[in-house]
Amino acid sequence: MANSAESQKLVICGGRRLGGEVTLQGAKNSALPILAGAVLCNGECVLHNCPRLSDVDAACRILSCLGCKCSRSGNSVSINSSELVSFDVPGDLMKEMRSSIVFLGAIIGRMGRCKLSFPGGCELGPRPIDLHLAALRKMGVDIKEEHGFLDCRAEKGIQGAAISLTFPSVGATENIILAAVTAKGITEIHNAAREPEIIDLSEFLKKCGAKITGAGSGTIYIEGTAKLLSAEHEVIPDRIVAATYMCCAAITRGEIMLKKTNYRHISAIIPILEQIGCKVYLYDNDKLFLTARKDLKAPGTLRTMVYPGFPTDTQPMMMALASTLDGTTVFVETIFDNRFRHVSELLRLGAKISIEGSVAIVEGVKRLSAADVDSTDLRGGAALVTAALNADGVSKVSNLYHIDRGYADLEADLKALGADIKRI
Ligand code: EPZ
Repeated sequence: MANSAESQKLVICGGRRLGGEVTLQGAKNSALPILAGAVLCNGECVLHNCPRLSDVDAACRILSCLGCKCSRSGNSVSINSSELVSFDVPGDLMKEMRSSIVFLGAIIGRMGRCKLSFPGGCELGPRPIDLHLAALRKMGVDIKEEHGFLDCRAEKGIQGAAISLTFPSVGATENIILAAVTAKGITEIHNAAREPEIIDLSEFLKKCGAKITGAGSGTIYIEGTAKLLSAEHEVIPDRIVAATYMCCAAITRGEIMLKKTNYRHISAIIPILEQIGCKVYLYDNDKLFLTARKDLKAPGTLRTMVYPGFPTDTQPMMMALASTLDGTTVFVETIFDNRFRHVSELLRLGAKISIEGSVAIVEGVKRLSAADVDSTDLRGGAALVTAALNADGVSKVSNLYHIDRGYADLEADLKALGADIKRI
């Protein structure tokens, strides 16, 4: 898959007004930590609404290396962790997906040992794991960092501890929860991440018998239990894919009906799109309809924040949309050091953007102009597809393996909405 995706391109003829309905995929950033959590269960777990993504395939390969039996039927993935044979995560798999670091807490929790290489430096700048390691050390895990490997041992078992995160890191919060659910004693996490994916992981683990309270708030309590049973769980809808499709509809001045959506998870995006001039209607608790006027206005300053603020993952796609609005939009990226790599490619599509450190100033243009562009990372690639839907002419977007990490049916969904798009 990765090789073929390396040479494939998306060919998009811009200018079509999108209209129609799409059913949202399950959330990548929820499925991944829950797949890691399955390592803790001595039995077979089944994960429904698990999206078909290369990152999910990579997570299943890691599980298989540990000795788990993984199989997929449709959108359900089953994981049998009765016979674990290894605690080593292969280096190439660690490089393939940064979020594999979240396996550390689960493997240590189950086996008392774990060996993995430093996670691949992601395209979003250095992605340190200092908060993960400091927390696990506080829980009694001995971690040796040598030759690019982490050799972790918890011979006397993991001890519960009170942990204050200096930053509400999503991955660190997930790793601590995964290590704490079978630890001895109580673990408290202060300044925990509040993302919906943390709640989803907690809901899955509680079905397995874990004792967790406070997920979704800044303080999470976990009381360690001896062992976890296996469970079935349905993954929440992907809020970042929802935001992507809303930006695609808005940039073409079209409309979209999103099904299987949890609008509460995108409560920071909806007011921004309404401020721009879109109308958003909510139906039956899980449907959202967006329609865009012709004359959309720039929303002013957008600052990325931790949940429930404006999500950094939607910044690139929102920037593509902002490139076509009347007026100037200022983006302040407060979460990642280097999350403007898509800007150079948006400039090739005729956008007017200047960068000052962590600030990007976007002056709207009437219409973008088609060009051949390269995806720089997962959401950067999604931003280029969003922009190409508006651009005058035929654009080609390459390096699709970035996009295939997080979007299960991007071209099929956009085609169903009326876009002129094909993968060659
Ligand atoms: C998760 O990454 C998501 N990935 C990211 O989505 C998302 O952008 C991010 O959370 C923020 O919401 C998954 O869930 C698989 P963090 P994660 O730890 O856990 C710094 C996507 O597009 N930090 O909250 O890596 C870090 O450098 C991806 O789907 C430390 O300094 O995010 C970053 O600047 C991209 N030390 C900030 O915190 C640490 O030990 C946020 O990182 C950990 C993080």
